[in-house]
Order: sequence, then structure tokens, then C-alpha cells
Amino acid sequence: MNLDFSQIVPSMPYILKGLQVTLQVVALAALLGFALGTLLALCKIARVRALGWFADFYTSIFRGTPLVLQLMIIYYGLPQITGYDIAPYLAAILAFGLNSGAYMSEIIRAGIQAVDRGQTEAAMALGVPYSKMMRHIILPQAMKNILPALMNEFITLTKESAVVTVIGAQDLMRRAYIVGGEKFSYFEPLLFVGLVYYVLVIILTLVGKVIEGRLKTSD
Ligand code: ARG
Repeated sequence: MNLDFSQIVPSMPYILKGLQVTLQVVALAALLGFALGTLLALCKIARVRALGWFADFYTSIFRGTPLVLQLMIIYYGLPQITGYDIAPYLAAILAFGLNSGAYMSEIIRAGIQAVDRGQTEAAMALGVPYSKMMRHIILPQAMKNILPALMNEFITLTKESAVVTVIGAQDLMRRAYIVGGEKFSYFEPLLFVGLVYYVLVIILTLVGKVIEGRLKTSD
């Protein structure tokens, strides 16, 4: 066994620079996924059949195929059709956002359906228009229900973002791999980057707990 953790100390700043890439990709993909997930969830509960079919089909495709495949299709495959190359970051945000949208749509749909029917009935009896009812009455209550599941999805997204390594984006994971290759010693940088991901997930978990606590006291 020839472990030497001191030799990766000079490479730590280089690896940590990947944090910016990882966080940017995750944050933008989460936003895209959430917006898309909300739209798809509304399609699923709407009484318009074609919308429901479309949203279900979308979810089944993006949940039914590997994320790494979706990323590769967008990065390597799409330019063949469009004629334009796509930057690795953009491809990553698109792939993770589109993929996460499928998962989030199910979380949000379930959250909306868990809101007491009486809320909808009361709003309708008072003549509140559908979009207003959704925005001001149903969705805020649904958000409270789904917060833990949503935090879970953000955690998954943070860890899955390491998959961008395959298209060469210089995120945390890729940088650790590069350092391993340069030093002919992979264990130390990989362990270090594992610790960084773990800390990120712990922070997300704490943020989720704080938000949940706040929402509880506002009840
Ligand atoms: N590894 C899984 C896949 O390739 C994870 C998909 C992402 N999951 C998620 N909840 N966003 O399909």
C-alpha cells in the first residue's frame, strides 16, 4: 500500500475549482427541472387527455433510459441533426434538467393531489379562476408537502452531476480523475472529491431541514 495524501494537497485548489462547474450545472438544472416538472404535473392533472398523455410519455422516456445516455445523445448526437456543436455545460444543464423534470413532475403531481379536495371545491365555489387557484391556493400547500421529496431530488442531482465527466466538463469529478492520472495515484484525489460531494449533500440536507422548520412554524 502506498498512500500519500500529502501529495494531493497542492492539487486541492485545482480540484476545488470544479465546485463552481458542479454547482452551476446543478443549480441551473434544478431550476429547469422544477419549472418543467411543475408544467408536466399540471398537464398530468389537467382534464385534457392529450396533455396527460404527453406528460406521461415524457416521464416514461426520461425515467426509462439512463441519464448518461441522455447526456451523450444531447452532447454527441444532437450536433449531427442541428449542425451546431453544443458546449459541455449547456449539454449537461439540458440533460440533467430534462431528466430531473420527469422525476419532479411525479413528486409535484403527487403533492398537488395530496392537497385536500375541499380546497379546490371551496375555491371553485367562490369563483376563483383556475390559474389563480393553482398559484395562490393549491401550489403553495403542495410545496409544503413535497419539500422533503424535492430535497431528495436535489441531492440526487448533485451526485448525478458527476456523470458530466464523460463529456469532458471540468467538474469536481473530472478534475479529481485528471489529478489521479497525473500523479499515477487515483485513490487520494477520488477520496478527497468524495468528501467534497458528501459535504455538499450534508449542507443541502441541513438547508432542507431549516426550510422545513420555517414552514412548520408558519402553520
Ligand atoms: N442513475 C440514474 C439513471 O441513470 C439516475 C437518474 C437521475 N435521477 C433523478 N432522480 N434525477 O437513470
